[in-house]
Order: sequence, then C-alpha cells, then structure tokens
Amino acid sequence: MSGTQATAGDGVDAATVRRAVEVLLHGGLVAFPTETVYGLGADADQPQAVAAIFRAKGRPATHPLIIHLARAAAVQRWARQIPSPAQKLINRFWPGPLTVVLPRGARATDLLTGGQDTVGLRCPANAWAQSLIRGLCAARGDDAAAIAAPSANRYGRISPTRAAHVRADLGEKPDGSVDFIIDGGESTLGIESTIVDFVAGNARILRPGSISRSQIAAAVGGPVQIAADVAKTPRVSGRVSGHYAPTKPLELVAPVDLIDRARALQPQALGILAPSEQLTRLGATNLALGIAAPAAPQDYAHALYDHLRQLDASAAARLLVAAPPSGELWDAVHDRLRRAAAGSEGRIIDAD
Ligand code: TXA
Ligand code: MG
Repeated sequence: MSGTQATAGDGVDAATVRRAVEVLLHGGLVAFPTETVYGLGADADQPQAVAAIFRAKGRPATHPLIIHLARAAAVQRWARQIPSPAQKLINRFWPGPLTVVLPRGARATDLLTGGQDTVGLRCPANAWAQSLIRGLCAARGDDAAAIAAPSANRYGRISPTRAAHVRADLGEKPDGSVDFIIDGGESTLGIESTIVDFVAGNARILRPGSISRSQIAAAVGGPVQIAADVAKTPRVSGRVSGHYAPTKPLELVAPVDLIDRARALQPQALGILAPSEQLTRLGATNLALGIAAPAAPQDYAHALYDHLRQLDASAAARLLVAAPPSGELWDAVHDRLRRAAAGSEGRIIDAD
C-alpha cells in the first residue's frame, strides 16, 4: 500500500507518515524519498529490521549504512567525537545532501557500520524524510531515534529517484521485499549525498555529490582532499567500479567521437544520451531511443538515473552516453557515469 495523498503545503500527508512510522516501529522496511535518492529505511536501533535491509538489497554485511537523523543535535548520540571541520560542515549543510563519516559511538553497532570504527550520519532536508524521522523520534520518545537507510535499489543497480523505481526494483510485500513505499514524488537533486570523512582532522571527499569540493573547502576554511583510487577505499562501495549499472553495455564516449562510434556499431540498436544537437546529427537508422542531455549540471544530475533506466528499458542493445563537460560541478555526474559504464561491462567489484 502506498500513501500518495498530499495535504500539507509541503506535500506531506500525516496519515501516510503515521502508517510508515508504525511499520518502522514493528521492525518493517519503509522506502522513503529524500532530496538525493529514495532510501530503504529501518529503525536503526532494531537489529532484525536492519538485517532485513541487507537481505532485501542483496548487499554484503560489510557495507556500512548511513544513519539518517532528524536534527544535528542527535549526532552526539551516534558519534563519540565530532572533529571541528565536521561540525562546521554540519552547521553549514544540514539538513541537506551531506553525509559525514565520524568515529562511531556505542549505539552505532557493527551491523550498522559493517564492523568499521566509523559511522556515516546524514540529516536529510526532504519534508517526507524529516516527518518520518521526527515521527519515529516522537513515537519512541527519543530525539536521537534514527533511520538506517541505503539507497532503495538492489545491490549494484541504478539508484531510485521515484517511488515507481523502488516498486519496479524491490517491490512491495507480499511479492516484493518492502513493507511500505512512500510516494513523495521525484527526488529533487537526483544523485546521492556527498560523503566526507576526516583523517587527522582534514576533510576528505569519499563520494562526490551535489555539494561541491569548493563548497566543502569554503565551509571548513581549508583544503579538501578527494579520496584516492577506489581500490584504496574498498569499504566505501559507492566509490568502487561497477556501481549504478544498467543491465545493457554502456559506453561513455567523447562528444567528438559519438557519431563515428554510433556508425561503427551499426546495425545494433542504440540508446543514446547526448546533447540534442548531437542527436539530430546522428541520423536515426539505428537509434532505439535518443535522450537529449540537459545542459546544466544540476538538471543532468536530477534526471540521470531516470534517463539510465529509460535507456535500459528501451529496445536498444547497447547504450552510448556523450561525456558531459568537465569542471567540479560535473564531478558527481562523471563519477556515476564512470561507474555505470564499468558495471555494465561486468567489472562489478562492489556496489550499493
Ligand atoms: O544520498 C544518500 O546518501 C542516500 C540517501 C538514501 O540518504 N543513501 C545512500 O546510501 O546512497 P548507500 O548505502 O547506497 O550508500 C552509502 C555509501 C556507501 O558507499 C557506504 O559504503 C558509505 O556510504 N558509507 C557509509 N558509512 C560509511 C563509513 N562509516 N565509512 C565509509 N563509508 C561509509
Ligand atoms: Mg546506493
């Protein structure tokens, strides 16, 4: 059953949230919208419920979950230490699309952290997500009650930005694995949160997102590292090749090479994501689906996973994506496209 009736100005329906909180209290799984992507949530203090997340996704137990909080003050109940740059980032970007990785407190069990000594914490801004976490806090009489949630997709597949994506991928019980899916419309940002950890007091980006490196640097008042190769951070599976993969082979192609590559692949049917002027110059002979790539990075990110799903569902045998422009505003999009290409070639090492 899904709640879709919107009543409040922010679109949040109180009865739907109450129902979802009941499901969480009883150890069930709730898929819910955030401004980044949809999450697959369980009450973080119920081990059986958290274990069900891993089963539903088919995700290895060593991959840590993000703990979603209603308010920044709850951080102290989940982390044993908050380095000063972390506090600055929290003050500046919460609620919002930022996850901080901090030394874990006792409440952040091995099950949640994948056995690591750190915990990933995020306070989402989306009104449904906020209402849901606050509802759980109220029902439990605990301001630090929290929802453990990865993205609501099967391990290795494309992240969901709409309720329909969750329904198609995980499904609702009894046929699927989710107890309750909240339909809160499209995720506004469309790609996962920026993840930052702190090594020797310095901020380091583990996963690029819509909060850019220079925004992070400005907020901490100092330089910001970007984590080196994915191979060096195996536990951060979002950074490992093979994430966000469509089922069809996907190639990232320099824009100047797109037409030649499409011709070389004839007569195979192609699904192509490229600027509209390139699509029109292609000739339609072997085009199963052409999607005009948005020109602005935030529009591109917003639609990216939906576009990848459309291409994957089309009659195309192979997918071509014209590499977007460079520049830090495009970092997160490039990161997700590179992983989609790697994963679609079967180079799946890890994926969340
Ligand atoms: O925007 C988001 O972050 C979404 C929404 C639902 O909040 N969540 C999300 O979760 O993308 P997931 O599980 O699909 O990806 C979380 C990433 C994983 O790559 C995980 O390894 C990493 O965060 N992570 C979580 N805790 C960590 C920790 N303690 N140390 C390093 N990486 C961590
Ligand atoms: Mg994920």
